[in-house]
Amino acid sequence: MPPTAVTPVQRPARRSPRRAEAADAGTVSVRAVRRADLEQVIAIDTAVTGIEKRAYWASVYRRYGTAGRGEQKFLVALAGGQVVGYVIGEVRDWEFGSPPCGWVFAISVDPQARLAGIGTRLLEAITAGFRRAGVTKLRTLLARENRLILSFFRAQGLMAGPLMSLEMDLST
Ligand SMILES: CC(C)(COP(=O)(O)OP(=O)(O)OC[C@H]1O[C@@H](n2cnc3c(N)ncnc32)[C@H](O)[C@@H]1OP(=O)(O)O)[C@@H](O)C(=O)NCCC(=O)NCCS
Repeated sequence: MPPTAVTPVQRPARRSPRRAEAADAGTVSVRAVRRADLEQVIAIDTAVTGIEKRAYWASVYRRYGTAGRGEQKFLVALAGGQVVGYVIGEVRDWEFGSPPCGWVFAISVDPQARLAGIGTRLLEAITAGFRRAGVTKLRTLLARENRLILSFFRAQGLMAGPLMSLEMDLST
């Protein structure tokens, strides 16, 4: 199947101070999330989505942060001692009739730290973990209209896969 055409998304004109600091100092590191990181993770998510979801993040941390040292992954990127991004995913076995593969559920970078390679570092780190877990396929789902995340994933080499999403309205 030919690749889907992607409408270019607006790129910021200049690098922000935080972005420059993250990139130029070469100090970005990626590691498993710790409880003390959670406030900064919530702050990034709130800035990106406009909705603060504390109960949701507590639950994500319980499932992927504390228990998640094996097939569940919740990683953060740090620059200058600050959390500047996170990625969450999991190895899922035989769901949707698919052999085991690594799913990325969420990836987000602080808007002030973007276009410095941090998203790429996060995806590389979770992908390395999936490889160590023995899987050879990476999958994700995204909203069709989210051109930014689509541009990012396409730049990482992800292509349209064989699964399709279906849904129906349950409110009526
Ligand atoms: C997508 C996202 C994670 C990328 O993070 P990032 O640190 O800026 O990404 P990188 O700097 O590693 O960019 C890697 C490549 O992605 C593509 N890309 C990233 N941002 C882009 C933009 N604004 N426009 C076009 N392409 C872009 C580029 O090809 C880029 O490589 P290049 O800079 O060499 O051209 C970040 O923009 C983000 O958090 N977006 C919102 C997240 C979101 O919507 N999440 C919902 C689903 S979980």
